Amino acid sequence: MKITLSVIKADIGSIGGHIKPSKKLLETVRNYVADIGSSLLKDFYVSSTGDDIAILMSHTKGKGNPEIHKLAWDAFLKGTDVAKKQGLYGAGQDLLKSSFSGNVKGMGPAVCEMEFEERPNEPFLFFAADKTEPGAYNLPLYLAFADPMNTPGLLLSPDLSNGVNFHIMDVNYTKGDRVISLSTPQDIYKIAALLRDNERFVVESVTTKKGEIAAVVSTTRLHNIAGKYTGKDDPVMLVRVQKQFPATGEVLAAFSRAHFVGGGMRGSHNVPLTPVKNNSPTSYFDGPPLVSSTAFCVQKGKFTEAIDGFDHPFWDYIRLKASRKAFEMREQGFSGPAMLPYSELEYGGIVEILKGLDKRFKIRKK
Ligand code: F6R
Ligand code: MG
Ligand code: MG
Repeated sequence: MKITLSVIKADIGSIGGHIKPSKKLLETVRNYVADIGSSLLKDFYVSSTGDDIAILMSHTKGKGNPEIHKLAWDAFLKGTDVAKKQGLYGAGQDLLKSSFSGNVKGMGPAVCEMEFEERPNEPFLFFAADKTEPGAYNLPLYLAFADPMNTPGLLLSPDLSNGVNFHIMDVNYTKGDRVISLSTPQDIYKIAALLRDNERFVVESVTTKKGEIAAVVSTTRLHNIAGKYTGKDDPVMLVRVQKQFPATGEVLAAFSRAHFVGGGMRGSHNVPLTPVKNNSPTSYFDGPPLVSSTAFCVQKGKFTEAIDGFDHPFWDYIRLKASRKAFEMREQGFSGPAMLPYSELEYGGIVEILKGLDKRFKIRKK
């Protein structure tokens, strides 16, 4: 059976700053999807990561379907009413357009979708990250799909050792989608050359050499849509696992580095990506940037119960490592690599300061 998995995610308000949506807000979104989506969807799952709410849906309507996108948009609108009534911070902040026009892409929410023929056993992982950018998944995807140091399946499984195709988007290009497809193993250095730049080049999807979809990432850049800062992009991702794809543990292992990503406080710093339990709030330094992982099997579009990928004692050790890395970087405050370059700052304050100081510089005569 051919099914589509769609994740649509937005920040429509949270408690105590950018921490976590209220229970009532989550319930409102969940109830709306359950009610209005009952004839459209095979199944759905609503969760939060930091201040974001993600709606994971299964259906048979294909990618970019207007009815599915409208369902999510309307659920977020309904939620925004509640967020406003409750006085939540940033109520409706990711709904950048006033009327729906067929697809939520370019309207603020993040989207990732995949359509595939279900295998007899179809396990997959859903990831959601907060206080960071879509390129935060670049390194984990490279490690999971292209590096035998992380993924022994590349050596052990003939299906995997054929390599995969990485489809990479230049997210700074705003006139359309500028994408390139590169193959492993032959192009791994070229892939690395692009993926080192998390702000500009983002893995949009990974496919097998037979053309099967393996992973999809939301590539939205809010500041490109709005032309100015509107918050960090907080990306979602779906990854199919096992057999011809990396094993669940290989994909999860790729997050054990707690690598530095752009985001954190005021979306303007380099801080480690911390694997957290489902429905975790943010805390230290408005982060550290967090990523949650939820495992499912899907059969005829119906989800099993959800299993939390990072709820295991092993990840306490990684969380400790991430805290240490965050603290060490924070010890250097505003200096050098602790903060993002001008182009990536969420606020214009520093640029204003520099403009103001410009006329006070004097050229000393030789
Ligand atoms: C992302 C996020 C942050 C904020 C940033 C700005 O989820 O919450 O990137 O966008 O901290 O916050 P305010 O609203 O104070 O400008
Ligand atoms: Mg936010
Ligand atoms: Mg967020």
